[in-house]
Amino acid sequence: CGIVGYVGAKPAAPILVDGLARLEYRGYDSAGVAVLGPSEIRLHRDAVRVRELEASLPKRFGGKVGIGHTRWATHGVPSQRNAHPQLSADGRVAVVHNGIIDNAAQLRAELTADGVELSSDTDTEVLAHLISRARTSNGSLEDAVLATLDRIEGTYGLAVLDQAHPDRIVVARNGSPIIIGIGDREMHVASDTAALVRYTRQVVHLDDGELATLRADGYQTFTRNARTTKTAVTVDWDASDYGTDGHEHFMHKEIAEQPDAVRRVLKGRLDERFHTVRLGGLEMDARELREFRRVKILGCGSAYYAGQAGAQFIEEVARIPADAEPASEFRYRNPVIEKDTLYVAVSQSGETYDTLVAVQELKRKGGRVIGLVNAVGSSIARECDGGVYLHAGPEVAVASTKALTNMLVGFALLGLHLGRIRDVSPADGRRLITALQALPEQIEAILDGEPHLAAVAKELAQAPSLFFVGRTRGFPVAREGAQKLKEISYRHAEAYQTSELKHGPLALVGPELPTVAIVPDDELLDRNLGALQEITARSGPLVVVTHDGVDLGVVAGQVITVPKSEPELDPLLLTIPLQLLAYHAALTLGHDVDKPRNLAKSVTVE
Ligand code: G6P
Repeated sequence: CGIVGYVGAKPAAPILVDGLARLEYRGYDSAGVAVLGPSEIRLHRDAVRVRELEASLPKRFGGKVGIGHTRWATHGVPSQRNAHPQLSADGRVAVVHNGIIDNAAQLRAELTADGVELSSDTDTEVLAHLISRARTSNGSLEDAVLATLDRIEGTYGLAVLDQAHPDRIVVARNGSPIIIGIGDREMHVASDTAALVRYTRQVVHLDDGELATLRADGYQTFTRNARTTKTAVTVDWDASDYGTDGHEHFMHKEIAEQPDAVRRVLKGRLDERFHTVRLGGLEMDARELREFRRVKILGCGSAYYAGQAGAQFIEEVARIPADAEPASEFRYRNPVIEKDTLYVAVSQSGETYDTLVAVQELKRKGGRVIGLVNAVGSSIARECDGGVYLHAGPEVAVASTKALTNMLVGFALLGLHLGRIRDVSPADGRRLITALQALPEQIEAILDGEPHLAAVAKELAQAPSLFFVGRTRGFPVAREGAQKLKEISYRHAEAYQTSELKHGPLALVGPELPTVAIVPDDELLDRNLGALQEITARSGPLVVVTHDGVDLGVVAGQVITVPKSEPELDPLLLTIPLQLLAYHAALTLGHDVDKPRNLAKSVTVE
């Protein structure tokens, strides 16, 4: 979900709608705005995309203070009444909210028993009523919000308008991001810097438990007990990063940007003199890093798959046992936290709630955790003990491409760094550094093959169900390939280790079920081809993603090749064609590539 707010001298509605359009990738089943009119709150909301909301804005929608929201339904189906902003019964308080109020059912029951007529199924509506009821005739809005938050269990990022205090917006954060944008005699607020960069580069991130009052001439942050002082940070992403730049979709633009994105994540980090890597953000010296006996990587969705590939790189290169686990499961199994394990949280947005809470749980128990994060200053980045920023630039399409690629590079940098302070030789360091430097041009070469990939995708899109298979380094690639296809083409795709086919899945293989096989030219090539022969023998259509020059022998299928890197870095290049396969499959099927159904770019709820 996304939140925006504006207070200043300009008409608020166009600024709010523009901000919402930039946040729409965070959730998009409904949208709405509320502005303070001369005597009443003007509200416009519906279960529509932001563009439609904008087109249907009433003529009289003036007001220089306002809030807006784009929603991804958690409580209540997408509908006009469940869209935000939510109003209090007297219509004088409006609230937008991200997060989940755990005790909403109980609070709703209390309100109903008290004679309040609830007009939506949302947990957010409860906040509007409670704030409205907590206001006293001469009390402040801030006190009413604090009194309400005292009764709330759960997570929130919220923004409040009150007709009785027409000069301000009050915002609060607990578990869901709130970022203030400092303008020239105007203040902005949003749940994501994407909505702010068009207006200002100076931003302030609220911490959990913090609130703020925004007026045209400034802001004041505070907690329940005291005022707080914040330092503004400058964001280096600019508004043009959020356009499609001539591409039909953000996903396509972001795929095309990968060579540059990789150049950025490598910039200034390769030490060609000592054949190692410099990671200035780590905040741990070599002595401390040498103490770690294990690496555990935590992330969700594509970030988790990147973590799996990263764990393999680290274990293979640095010879430290490493594995990855979905952050969403980690916390709940009450894991043993070890002092000599280096925990790594990986996230594009830096706001994924499951990952953030896993980091907090780790820290509570004394774990050392670093971040591999794309969004500078994001919650996960701030919570970690240093880390590696990914510098992929803003990623807007829900399906991650350039951020995922930079995660893989980030893990390679981390793995090489950990390796060179242990057993990795200068020669091996040089071998991997040379391979890293070659990546941008190699990615360009793969992208040049787009017409062929589009043709293969067109065929694959006809199949209702597919397998993706790979072994060892190729397995996370297969998982990510299946995930991408599922996310945007809505085709069923399952990933297996190629070696596991014969232990069950082979029963499904036949002319109706294509398999996309990841077959790097590595030590397992012969074994991989052996397993694929079993597919050919059962007339299973095959798409083989392999290296230039590999002889497939009797294995029959469509062939997609990528340039050869060093074996440890193979996963990175092998992933790129799978992005374009998913993209073109979704196009063929006529789906909304950038905004797949039921998904959100960053999931800031549990
Ligand atoms: C959501 C998105 C996925 C993404 C995951 C992790 O579930 O739909 O595409 O991989 O979050 O996001 P993060 O921002 O933490 O990398």
